Amino acid sequence: MNKIIFETSVQATIKKVEARMRAQANGSHPDLHSAVENLLDAGGKRIRPMLTVLTGNMLNADQDRLITLAAAIEMLHTATLVHDDLIDGSLMRRGNSTLNARWTPAATVLTGDFVFARAAKLAAETKSLLLMDIFAETLAIIVNGELTQMFESRGLANRKNYYERIYAKTGSLFELSTRGAAIISEVDAQTVENIQTFGREIGTAFQIMDDILDFTGEQSTIGKPVGSDLLQGLITLPALFYIETHPKDENVKVLLSGEFRNEESMTALVESIRNSDAIQLALDEAREYTSRALNALNGQPKGAERQALEDLANYVTSRDA
Ligand code: IPE
Ligand code: IPE
Ligand code: MG
Ligand code: MG
Repeated sequence: MNKIIFETSVQATIKKVEARMRAQANGSHPDLHSAVENLLDAGGKRIRPMLTVLTGNMLNADQDRLITLAAAIEMLHTATLVHDDLIDGSLMRRGNSTLNARWTPAATVLTGDFVFARAAKLAAETKSLLLMDIFAETLAIIVNGELTQMFESRGLANRKNYYERIYAKTGSLFELSTRGAAIISEVDAQTVENIQTFGREIGTAFQIMDDILDFTGEQSTIGKPVGSDLLQGLITLPALFYIETHPKDENVKVLLSGEFRNEESMTALVESIRNSDAIQLALDEAREYTSRALNALNGQPKGAERQALEDLANYVTSRDA
């Protein structure tokens, strides 16, 4: 799937979303100002704001509110990444060094807080109380998920736990990206629900793909180190399939005995998984979520906007970055 097609259709609007985000740095300490600018300059795929804009366009949302909402969501995403990279000790993101690689933890936390605050302000500017409510709730879900992952998920080979984790981490914000656009478009409750399902299922497919790329990607393309999930003891869908099909693998035994800090063993396991059929099995499962997402769009008016959303849905599981 060629992403250029749907990307081109929203490029001009995404530029406005970025300008809206950039304006949020104004009035802050010069170091904070340049840190926020650097964060925004580093780019990113902007998939969540694209989803918001395309959904809003399909549902005839007011353009100004839609741009504000898309900016709020991408700001929220950016803030979670600032804190996540500090928590994970990640030194690279979007092909650049992270803030925590250059700054103290204190300055990094405060910058993340600042971006959260500006995200909340943008959400308030949509002038929808319901939206502000679900915006705050989504952040609570993300934070609760990060903490649960930190305390309980390491070394855990459990599908239910995996799916709860990826909903908290990614599904919830994708859901907000589409549901939020439906809310400000003032459509009926059934449409809001279908659109919400669409976002959640795409988010699930997106995160499974992210987990696959952690095994199969190239650092230069995905912009962050490869194999890092297992090395942190995080068992994702490709690893779950591999464990099911290779229970006697020595490195699987090491992992399941809780010794994921054995770097040599985990590096070997990453290589085994990368070259196994577990990758294809995970990809097939991701595409099932894409199909569910597309089904949820069935009742929507056919046209260029819906087509762009379908293209985006298909892109999610065919991307290499
Ligand atoms: C990264 O999200 C964090 C996850 C939830 C997987 P993206 O892959 O959308 O990151 P950017 O915004 O394109 O950098
Ligand atoms: C980051 O999760 C996404 C959040 C919502 C905090 P991860 O730690 O799994 O993602 P990457 O690998 O850093 O992008
Ligand atoms: Mg991380
Ligand atoms: Mg993390």
